[in-house]
Amino acid sequence: MTTTKTQTLLLLPGDGIGPEVTEEARRVAAHLAPDLRIEEAFFGGVSYDNFGVPLTDEVMARARKADAILMGAVGGPKWDNVPRDKRPEAALLSMRKNLDVYANLRPAFCFPALAGASALKTELVEGLDILIVRELTSGVYFGQPKTIETLPNGERRGIDTQVYTTSEIRRVAARAFELARGRTRTSRFAGVLSCEKSNVMDSGLLWRQEVTKLHQERYSDVKLDHMLADAAAMHLVKAPKDINVLLADNLFGDILSDEASMLTGSIGMLPSASLGDPGVPGLYEPVHGSAPDIAGKGVANPIAAILSLEMVMRWSLGRADVADNIFAAVGKALDGGARTADIGGSMSTRQMADAILNHL
Ligand code: NAD
Ligand code: IPM
Ligand code: MN
Repeated sequence: MTTTKTQTLLLLPGDGIGPEVTEEARRVAAHLAPDLRIEEAFFGGVSYDNFGVPLTDEVMARARKADAILMGAVGGPKWDNVPRDKRPEAALLSMRKNLDVYANLRPAFCFPALAGASALKTELVEGLDILIVRELTSGVYFGQPKTIETLPNGERRGIDTQVYTTSEIRRVAARAFELARGRTRTSRFAGVLSCEKSNVMDSGLLWRQEVTKLHQERYSDVKLDHMLADAAAMHLVKAPKDINVLLADNLFGDILSDEASMLTGSIGMLPSASLGDPGVPGLYEPVHGSAPDIAGKGVANPIAAILSLEMVMRWSLGRADVADNIFAAVGKALDGGARTADIGGSMSTRQMADAILNHL
């Protein structure tokens, strides 16, 4: 007799629009995977308000035991003056670091119906399908020292430290090469485009050297190009369809993915998956934040959260068929004219999710 283990998805709605958009992802999950156990916990500002810390040990332990974690968004003006280690964003950084989910996949896909909603000319983004692979657990986000100190002359000095080791670079680059193998392209940068600032940063120089070395050792079948990160920012708006897999460190990857979101129509469209080594639960989250300016109004775009669920199904739960179904339903809802305000319409969060559910 075979027994199938019940899979668990831990939802961390968080703050601002986080609960609004994760609720819609939860409805989609309940509809498509009724056997999935869905748990929920406090995370971010709402955890700080209830427990004095943005991430409790109990929630961290539950995250480790889950098959996947779907986070909404954290942060907001309410917590802007809380000490850094207690801020909602610290919960997110701790969760990423504790799970060691070093490879952050951020697909920027332009749905055909939205090509006209992009800030760029339609022909530049029609058919756009970029995968950003962002290093997520090292770099300037975590390097020490990291502090604000007072100098003898009374001036204050803020310090952040950019650090990368060879193994940190190699493991995320390996992921990018492997993903590129499954995404054949004929465009100018058809394989991996690795971005750093090796012209001014030693960590950037090491990055370029290690990526080149790994490529020669194990991935010479994949096309590899290098570009300085500032030039990549330019290229993303000049000829984005040249790019297939864009590999970058933690900070450059953060910035370039927000930029890429606008090619797809809105930051409310971009999902992400943060993956570690096999056996580690994946952490999934929309790329957008808690959007304090629209929180509580029921108008946020739930697509980034719903597509993050799509990635949960594909990368952590082994349910590619369900993932394909979600992806197709989002496309059909958009084809049918469903639009929230950020992509030029007037639908509420719930109406947009209903339009998607109608195609499932
Ligand atoms: P943001 O992404 O929250 O908002 C930027 C702009 O995009 C706003 O105008 C917002 O209304 C809009 N927007 C974002 N998501 C949207 C959606 N789903 N539908 C429609 N419009 C959407 O970025 P911000 O304003 O710089 O940050 C706000 C807070 O969120 C800060 O505290 C920041 O630290 C936090 N943040 C959290 C995450 C996360 O939890 N992963 C990511 C980014 C920012
Ligand atoms: C993101 C966010 C986070 C980051 C913040 C909220 C810590 O901007 O996920 O893109 O900088 O990584
Ligand atoms: Mn960001």
